[in-house]
Amino acid sequence: MKIDILTLFPRMFDGFITESIMSRAIENKIVEINLIDFREFSTNKHKKVDDYPYGGGAGMVLGIQSIYDALLSIPNHQKALKIMVTPQGKTFKQEDAYELSKHDHIIVLCGHYEGYDERIRELFDIEVSIGDYVLTGGELAAMVLIDAITRVIPNVINNDDSHLHDSFSNDLLEHPHYTRPADFMGNKVPDVLLNGNHKLIDEWRREQALKRTKERRPDLYKKYLKVNK
Ligand code: 6GU
Repeated sequence: MKIDILTLFPRMFDGFITESIMSRAIENKIVEINLIDFREFSTNKHKKVDDYPYGGGAGMVLGIQSIYDALLSIPNHQKALKIMVTPQGKTFKQEDAYELSKHDHIIVLCGHYEGYDERIRELFDIEVSIGDYVLTGGELAAMVLIDAITRVIPNVINNDDSHLHDSFSNDLLEHPHYTRPADFMGNKVPDVLLNGNHKLIDEWRREQALKRTKERRPDLYKKYLKVNK
């Protein structure tokens, strides 16, 4: 998958692309990430990309010119899925990560300032938010999106089906996990996990996942009951 990121702060992505699973996916050529600083496309003599809002009011508005020219500079941009990250978008869910992971080429625009000139919206296919809170800019939201998309692309995470058990993938939170020691200062790992009976272990994990979801996320639990009745 080719991912072009339009941002005014490309260095915010430094650690994101050089560490851990993202860096390995890039090294293995499963994803290619291009950071495009759209300020470089500004025709303004001071490379300004924002301006005062028509009609007045507080804050600055991101203008369309530099974003339009940056978008057109991307090879095959016509065929790419163009995503705007904005708190006004549809809330991003695990199912969206799976859906978006099927695309060969996505372009992600990170906004800043008070808002986008409304006409920028027409250049993009979808608008995505990562939740009901306000960030200073779209970069963190773009990283959340790209991380969630990348990890469900085949061969990014070694264990082929490990994400099939992820919290949310089957509408349930995950069961508890334990590793050594079996006894930490008297705090013991549940016996059932130590006896090697995999049928019992699977049953226990399933019960725990249900219990945990019911307690912590009654909304997900209700959805689960509806889908699995
Ligand atoms: Cl996509 N951008 C900003 N600035 N804030 C957000 C967001 C996006 N999603 C949630 N809050």
